Amino acid sequence: MKDEEIDHPQAMKIRQGIQDAMTYSLPDKNFSPKKIDVIEVDIELDNLGWDFHNFRILNLCDIHMGQWINPEYLDDLIDYVNTLNYDIVTLTGDYVSYVIDGYDEALKKSLGKLKSPGGKFGVLGNHDHWMGSDKIREIFDQCDIVDLSNDVRLLSRGDDKLNLAGVDSCTVCADNLDAVLAKLDDDYPTILLAHEPDFAHESSQTGRIDLQISGHSHGGQLIIPIVETTPFRGPNSTKYPVGLYKVGEMTQYTSKGLGTNSFRIRINCKPEITIITLKTKNKQRIPVE
Ligand SMILES: [Fe+2]
Repeated sequence: MKDEEIDHPQAMKIRQGIQDAMTYSLPDKNFSPKKIDVIEVDIELDNLGWDFHNFRILNLCDIHMGQWINPEYLDDLIDYVNTLNYDIVTLTGDYVSYVIDGYDEALKKSLGKLKSPGGKFGVLGNHDHWMGSDKIREIFDQCDIVDLSNDVRLLSRGDDKLNLAGVDSCTVCADNLDAVLAKLDDDYPTILLAHEPDFAHESSQTGRIDLQISGHSHGGQLIIPIVETTPFRGPNSTKYPVGLYKVGEMTQYTSKGLGTNSFRIRINCKPEITIITLKTKNKQRIPVE
């Protein structure tokens, strides 16, 4: 988005009005599980404790409420998510696009009823900042979503622990990786939520992040078969636009996201719910009699 549009909310409201008209005029605007890919990814982490082996992280991102996804669609999608098998939910940003007023209650209702046995954890995207980070953080608060913007939580499971961290959006220069690094417990592996996938270039160089989970790119909204990548790459999603990457020693996963922030077009690029299953590389513990 151009800066002059950010400074002119009226222009964004007009743009949103056009998008609303497009969304609601489409004949096929209801949620169906057939419209969504549930992508299952196994990721091995060094030094992951056995109590976290097979730990399942369900990630949602790029809802962009009001464009592809209307309030009814999101509500039905969350009902579907609640039927899936996972331990925690992560949310990697861009809940809205061009306006938030009129959609905040719907977001609260749906994200509030999103179930998660081990908690819900989120970061913000560039659009969330453009539309009002305070309003998104208030929704987080009311929906029991832990705000991981430049923050860390140490998750426990049995005798083992895992750092779950997040950085705020680098597109708007809200990221503070140093603050995250200062809070990590280096005895345990670390997963970082970062809206923009190309932040992997920076996070991987610390040598202290094992896995970064991102969105932002929407998979370019077009994926070329066989090579399974996209030619459409925007700022901060040019290097790692879709799927799984190895960046130095770090693993990067970029989701295709759920919505769009432009036209309702996705070619060979279905919206995505991601379930990452963590696998340990540690040797099996054998109890000694
Ligand atoms: Fe984004």
